[in-house]
Amino acid sequence: MSEAKFKPVFIFLDTDKHASPFDILMTLDLIPDVVVLKYENVTPEDVEKIVYDALFPRGPKGIKYTKVFVNGKELETVNAIVEKIRKCMFPPFELSVIVDPRGSYTTASAAVVKTLEILRKLGLGGIEGKNVTVLAGTGPVGVAAAWLYAAEKAVEVIVTSREITRAQKVASRINEELKTDVVKPFQARTPEDVGRAIENADIVLATGAPGVQLLPLNTLKTYGKKVKVVADCNAVPPYGIEGLDPKWDGKEVIPGVYGVGALVIGTLKNKIEAELIKKALQEPKGIFDFRTAYEIGKAMLPTK
Ligand SMILES: NC(=O)c1ccc[n+]([C@@H]2O[C@H](COP(=O)([O-])OP(=O)(O)OC[C@H]3O[C@@H](n4cnc5c(N)ncnc54)[C@H](OP(=O)(O)O)[C@@H]3O)[C@@H](O)[C@H]2O)c1
Repeated sequence: MSEAKFKPVFIFLDTDKHASPFDILMTLDLIPDVVVLKYENVTPEDVEKIVYDALFPRGPKGIKYTKVFVNGKELETVNAIVEKIRKCMFPPFELSVIVDPRGSYTTASAAVVKTLEILRKLGLGGIEGKNVTVLAGTGPVGVAAAWLYAAEKAVEVIVTSREITRAQKVASRINEELKTDVVKPFQARTPEDVGRAIENADIVLATGAPGVQLLPLNTLKTYGKKVKVVADCNAVPPYGIEGLDPKWDGKEVIPGVYGVGALVIGTLKNKIEAELIKKALQEPKGIFDFRTAYEIGKAMLPTK
């Protein structure tokens, strides 16, 4: 078959009972002649069968037009699926794999990019050398954001949780992967605990569950003397950071503390995801996860 005849095919592997229509719709709108296949309730044990059957029928030329999108709520299962896919592939039978579990990786990337943008606008340089606190950083968004801040050479990345063991697990994993010790676990159950977690922070990112307030305004006023940027991923009231409107893009929450709201992060998230899908379509192989998403988002910032 001539290469021009191969249609782009996106195979959605979702760990959830119902595949998310969000990413499917975005893919359909971006690529007019795309064919979408979806598999739900996917477990790591299902991967070999599906992926091997996707790798071979179109041959080494056609495989460049076959893409996999891994999705789902359970991050550990998603990671195990991605590992299985990696193991199934070998040259020339390799394909592009997008990983964005429930939008978390593109959201984390957008949040980190927005905080970087505000730092630059304030003339405060980049993330390198800054102290960061990721509030409730144990979910998929928080883990990816903490990873990115550590990779960008923040001097300290505090990850809070109501349970210290959950924060410890996140910190150990990132420190091990990046061969660093900058990620520090912190147990935060009360506003005072949260206050102590942000005492030295230049950047505070809230990545708590929808509808959960993590940082009351009084706590920010009392403890956030060094804070320059706050950002919140939670768009469901009450928001993660009191006093920070989801539509704000760099507006002062209190004097000297500039805020980025969840809807602003969400808008950039959608742009990043669209570019991630286009990149995976163009490139014949590779894993396109939060690392790629962050590079895409960073490249969208003005150079000066
Ligand atoms: N714009 C978008 O497209 C988009 C996409 C994805 C996510 N989001 C938003 O990003 C945020 C983070 O998403 P996620 O999926 O990573 O969140 P998540 O896993 O649901 O929750 C993150 C963390 O919040 C903490 N938490 C849960 N309930 C809490 C409570 N009642 N009180 C205090 N802490 C609580 C938990 O930490 P501990 O148990 O360790 O304390 C949990 O690990 C959410 O608000 C979500 O809506 C937006």
